[in-house]
Amino acid sequence: MNAAVRAVVRTALSAGAEPFAIMEGWIGAINGGDSIRPMKWASVSSILNKGGTVIGSARSDEFRTYEGRTRATKNLLEQGIDRLIVIGGDGSLSGADEFRREWAQQLEGLVESGEVSAELAAAHPELTLVGLVGSIDNDLVGTDMTIGADTALDRIVTAMDQITSTAASHQRTFIIEVMGRHCGYLPLMAAVAGGADYVFTPEAPAHPGWQQDVCARLQEGRDAGRRESLILVAEGARDTEGKDVTTQDIAEALKDGLGEDARISILGHVQRGGSPSAYDRWMSTLLGYAAAQELLSPQAYGQACILGVRHNRVTRLDLEQAVINTRSVQKMIDSGDYVAAKKARGNTFFE
Ligand code: F6P
Repeated sequence: MNAAVRAVVRTALSAGAEPFAIMEGWIGAINGGDSIRPMKWASVSSILNKGGTVIGSARSDEFRTYEGRTRATKNLLEQGIDRLIVIGGDGSLSGADEFRREWAQQLEGLVESGEVSAELAAAHPELTLVGLVGSIDNDLVGTDMTIGADTALDRIVTAMDQITSTAASHQRTFIIEVMGRHCGYLPLMAAVAGGADYVFTPEAPAHPGWQQDVCARLQEGRDAGRRESLILVAEGARDTEGKDVTTQDIAEALKDGLGEDARISILGHVQRGGSPSAYDRWMSTLLGYAAAQELLSPQAYGQACILGVRHNRVTRLDLEQAVINTRSVQKMIDSGDYVAAKKARGNTFFE
């Protein structure tokens, strides 16, 4: 995310605009004061190689209330801010779009209550919004990649390489759970890049008899002289009946089928840490640059969009439609329509 923030700030400054950073997400917008900071060229120096986000990120219950959003509107207006770039997942982006839609109504209320002058409100009649997708899950429909997904993939493959040493020494099987919520991008790509023996993803649910199938595959590897076996499991893995398939279920299947005492490793939040990959840095720089350009274009005023990447080119998505499509893919997965879900992702990697 830092690469995107850096590119936004520097592109805006180059265009003669005055960029601000809102610290800690919506909490900063609601708190105002020092949480809304003017940014200079040097404010974003030396952050390109840092993981996470230097401007902070937080879930805010207060932003879900009308009163909370009223305070945010007032604080933004006081700084003359009526153009926002929001980096987040589908929830944050649709929340931001709701905020944009009710902007005029908020202004009316603030003018009526005397908290904001009619002149100030008239100078900023609409809110413009550009969304960038920040999520390691790579689950937004219409973009090939989301900010952070490549770095998380890198963390997983590194962990697989490390686990391989001990697995091979002891001739063991490791069952590794990876993040990604309901999207199989991370486990699938990590399985390919890290050389896993078996992978469980939400989009390819485990069929009846999967226990025997996993055991047979592992046995084939051992017969061929392989000393280690790695199984990757998405945190949202299921079977065709919709029942969760957990690392524990798989360990039991290996115990029953092969008499193996497999080890379980749940990678957890290490996947979301550390220095960003080169791909994440340049892609986010490209997106941050494009987002600032889009935000400053007169035609964009009062509108909302998401910028993503398709075939290594920045792509512009309708915000509302992208969120609707993402949620409908989730519904397809919930209802067991996995093939349709895979097609509907609009992601080159799944195609
Ligand atoms: O959406 C990103 C993600 O890392 C998921 O892969 C994971 O399920 C979830 O967030 C973990 O959330 P938290 O950090 O709140 O525990």
